[in-house]
Amino acid sequence: MASPFKDNPEKCVVRKQWNTPLLEYLHDTHGVRYRYLGLPGTDLIDVKLWRSMIDEVIAFEPLDRDGYGTRAITALRQNMRKMGVPGWAYCGSFEEVVLRRKDFDGQDYAQGGLVTLYNLDFCNEISSPVDTQERGKQVWRFEAIRQVLRDQVACYKETGGPRHFILMLTVRNQIGSQKIRKFLSPSKLQGDAKTFYTKCSKINAIPPKEEKLPLIGSHSWALKTLLHNMLCSYFGNPNLSALFFPQVLYQGTKVRDGTESPMLHWLVLCRFGKVEDPSPEFWPDGYLSRASIAVQNEEVLAWAVQTGEECSDAKPPNAVEWLLQHGSDILVGL
Ligand SMILES: C[S@@+](CC[C@H](N)C(=O)[O-])C[C@H]1O[C@@H](n2cnc3c(N)ncnc32)[C@H](O)[C@@H]1O
Repeated sequence: MASPFKDNPEKCVVRKQWNTPLLEYLHDTHGVRYRYLGLPGTDLIDVKLWRSMIDEVIAFEPLDRDGYGTRAITALRQNMRKMGVPGWAYCGSFEEVVLRRKDFDGQDYAQGGLVTLYNLDFCNEISSPVDTQERGKQVWRFEAIRQVLRDQVACYKETGGPRHFILMLTVRNQIGSQKIRKFLSPSKLQGDAKTFYTKCSKINAIPPKEEKLPLIGSHSWALKTLLHNMLCSYFGNPNLSALFFPQVLYQGTKVRDGTESPMLHWLVLCRFGKVEDPSPEFWPDGYLSRASIAVQNEEVLAWAVQTGEECSDAKPPNAVEWLLQHGSDILVGL
């Protein structure tokens, strides 16, 4: 296998027990079909699992680790053909292709229609740099996410179509202390995020400025605050309302030297607002204080209250239940 990505039991639980029931529910109950944009890896494990509900795939895969090889992208393209999945596989990082509008092979990039399922399944930190052809290593992930949202709005304006789509985002539960301190400076935080930040800082503070530490698996509250604050601000201008699902913690595939890979996964159901709406809405109320969930014993999902969060339901977590409990407003128009 050319891809560096190896599946693992905890990721399987997230895919099968968290994502799949929700995708199937929206498909079976509301007739939703998926146009996928994301990082399926050479084996397209997620696309295979959801194949019967997927019409088209827009995939990205960078050059091999050595920086030159094309084994991974070639395998991805071959596997898409074998599976009979219509779509495009772009060679290069998601960030560079989306921002430069060209891939490494010189193929032009365009989203070419609405996407109903984003699976931005990164293996590293939210602010990890990516290799670029002309500019060396660059932290382009934030801008690339803004860009795909701009592309999505442009497609919606041009062609109309479904108002709803799903955004899934996965990153390592890891970040440098100085970086997260800067990202969460009070001037960048909206109301709820500021309150949550203050509350959590008293319980599990980010190390002081002078200390430069990698925070590995220890400050999921800070990444949750960053991601929620960031997505709400990106959604503001295209006027996208959103239902946030509980943050999921799991152990990803170990790094080659055997180091653990704590991961965080978010799932958000988005809906384009109407022209007459003054602003988007975000659900559920008090999202940041609501419990996270985690994979237990490589088998099941269970509530896992993190710093600053409150206790959860007695019932085991279930994405469809969450939608039914908190999604009545966002489901309007589906
Ligand atoms: C976590 S794996 C994909 C797993 C797949 N989505 C699944 O559910 O099994 C991520 C894949 O995307 C590739 N990848 C990682 N970061 C990327 C980036 N910034 N741009 C494009 N591809 C990336 C990796 O080489 C790997 O093949």
